Amino acid sequence: MGRIRLLSDELINQIAAGEVVERPASVVKELAENAVDAQATSVRVQLAEGGLSAITIIDDGFGMSRDDARLCLERHATSKLADADGLFQIVTKGFRGEAIPSIASVSRFSLTTSEPGAAVGTRVVVEGGSAASIEDAAPLAGTRIDVLDLFFNVPARRKFLKRESTELTHCEEAVVRLALAHPKVSFSLEHGGRRLISSAATDDLRERIAELLGGEALPHLLAIDERRLGVSVTGFIASPEFTLPTARGLYTFVNRRYVRDRGVNSAVQRAFQDSLPPGRQPVTAIFIDLDPRAVDVNVHPQKLEVRFSDPRSIQEALSAAIGRALKAAPWRQNAGQPLPEAVHAQYAMAVDRFLARASETPGAFLEPVPLPSAEATRAPFGTARPQLNDDPPPGYFGALRFKGDLGRRFWLCEGPGGTLVVVDPFAVEERLALQSLVDRHRAGEVTEAGLFSTTVSLGPDEAAAVLARASSFARLGLELDDFGQGSLAIRRAPPELSGGAVDFTALLRELVPLVPVELTDDDQLMDALGVMAHRAVSTTWRAPSHDEVHARLAALDGTDFLLRPRRQRVVVHELPLLELESRSGESPRSR
Ligand SMILES: Nc1ncnc2c1ncn2[C@@H]1O[C@H](COP(=O)(O)OP(=O)(O)O)[C@@H](O)[C@H]1O
Ligand SMILES: [Mg+2]
Repeated sequence: MGRIRLLSDELINQIAAGEVVERPASVVKELAENAVDAQATSVRVQLAEGGLSAITIIDDGFGMSRDDARLCLERHATSKLADADGLFQIVTKGFRGEAIPSIASVSRFSLTTSEPGAAVGTRVVVEGGSAASIEDAAPLAGTRIDVLDLFFNVPARRKFLKRESTELTHCEEAVVRLALAHPKVSFSLEHGGRRLISSAATDDLRERIAELLGGEALPHLLAIDERRLGVSVTGFIASPEFTLPTARGLYTFVNRRYVRDRGVNSAVQRAFQDSLPPGRQPVTAIFIDLDPRAVDVNVHPQKLEVRFSDPRSIQEALSAAIGRALKAAPWRQNAGQPLPEAVHAQYAMAVDRFLARASETPGAFLEPVPLPSAEATRAPFGTARPQLNDDPPPGYFGALRFKGDLGRRFWLCEGPGGTLVVVDPFAVEERLALQSLVDRHRAGEVTEAGLFSTTVSLGPDEAAAVLARASSFARLGLELDDFGQGSLAIRRAPPELSGGAVDFTALLRELVPLVPVELTDDDQLMDALGVMAHRAVSTTWRAPSHDEVHARLAALDGTDFLLRPRRQRVVVHELPLLELESRSGESPRSR
C-alpha cells in the first residue's frame, strides 16, 4: 500500500492558516483589508480580550451575494484576480483568496453580508473549518465578520500567543497601518467597549497622522513630494527633532500597502543618516506609488515585502524626496545655536527618554496600553507619579518654575522637592477648554443665536444620524438646522468652538458615534465634551509664548482634574531627580 495520502481540505486550510494567521492582529489586518478592498467608507473593529476571545469587523462596503458569501470560504476563491496577467498588476490588498478560509479553519467564524439594496442578507457560520451553514439574515448594507475563540482547535498555536495587552497592541498597530494608508476611510477600534482609535474620514493626511501617531508629531511634520517618471514619493516625515529609539515610527507604503521592506527602509534611513543623532530612528509616513506592474507584491505570505523591477529608481526617488524636505526644514536654520542654558544636559537626557516613551504610546492618553513585559517590571522613567494627573495637589502648577521649552513642544519646569516637571502645553489648553465647556454646561448657559453660524455638508445618512441626535447636540451647546440634502447649519456653538477655524464636519463625525440619541449619561457627556475641547484646541494650537506660561499654569490649578473624558492626554510628568542621578552614568541614547 502506498504511503502518500492527499490532505483533507480542513488540514490544508489549517496549514495555510499557519502562514496567514499568526495572531489576532493578522485576522484584524486581513479582514480590515477586505473591507477596504470592498470600498467601505467606514471600518469598525471590536475586540474582546486582545482579540483572543472575539474579533468583530463591520464595514459598509459593497457586500456579497449569497453565492459569493458561500464561495469566499473556499480556498483560492477571490474576486480580485482573474488570470495570471492580473497577478502582475495588483491594485487590491488581497488577491490570493486565502484569508477567509484560513481564519474560518481556526476559529468559530460567522459572516453576515448583503449587497446594497438587497431585501435579505446572508449569514454563514463555520466552526473550525467544518461545513458551512447558510441562512437568511437581516440586510446590513455591508459585511460583518465575527471571529470567536481564535485557535480554539489548534492548542499548539494558542500557546504561542502573548498576553492580552501585547496582542491588543499588535491589533492596534494593524489598524494604524491601514488607517494611515486610507485617510478617506473612517476607522475605529474598540476593546472591551473602550474606544482606542476613532479616526474620522479626512482629506488631510497630517490630521490622520497626528491622530494615530500622537499630536506631538504634528508641529514637526514636513511634507515630501517627489514625482518622477513612473514613481511618486509623497507623505510626511518628522523633522530630526522628533525621533524614536526604534524603527517603529517608520511607516512606508507601496501602492497604499504597508510594507516592512529592508530595501525601502534602509533607503529611508540612509536619507536621514547625516541628520539624526546616532541610535535614533526617523518617524515617517511615506507613500511610494508606482505602476502596479513595476512591483511584485506576491513574494511574502503576509505581503510585507515587495520586489521592485527597478529598485534603484525607487531608492533615488526616496532619497531625493527626503533630502529636499530636510534641507528646507526650518530647524536647519537654527541648528548651530546652543540650547537655552536652563536646559541642563541631564534635563535634556531625561526629556529625550520621556519623549521617546510618550511617542511610543499612540496618543499618549491616560490609561496607556501596558508596556511590554520586560519594561513593565521597572517603573517607566518619566511616569514616576502618573497619579499626579488624576489628582494634583492644590496650587501645584502655579508653583512650578518654568525653565524653558523643548522642541517647541514641552515645557520644562522645576517642581517641588527638586523634581523636573515636564508639561504638555497642548494638553494644558485642552484641559482649560474642557473646563470652560463643562462650566458652561453646568451653568446651563446658552450662547446667543446669530452671533455665529456655519454650514457643513455631510452625506445624507450622516446628516440624518446627526439630526436624530439634535437634542443631544443641543445639550452640548451645538444647535443645528436641517438645510436638506445632507447640509446642516450650525446656529449656535459654545464660544470655545466658534473662533472660525474649527472643522465642524470632522467634529460632528467624531461626535456621532459617541453621542446617543438621548444624551443622559454623564460619562458620555464628558466624552463628548472632551472631543469638543480637543477640536477647539487642535485647529488653532500654537505653543503659548514664554511670558504666557505662568498664567496658563496658574489657570490649570483652577481646573477640576476629576473631569475625565475618555480621550485625555497626559498633562504632566514628574521626574524625580534622584532617579536622574542614578542614571546619569548611562548614555542618553542607550535605550
Ligand atoms: N468585507 C468584504 N466585503 C465584500 N466582499 C468580501 C469581504 N471580505 C471578503 N470578501 C470577498 O471574499 C473574497 C475572499 O476573501 P479573502 O479570503 O480575504 O481573499 P482575497 O482578499 O485575497 O480575495 C474576496 O475576494 C471578496 O470577493
Ligand atoms: Mg483578503
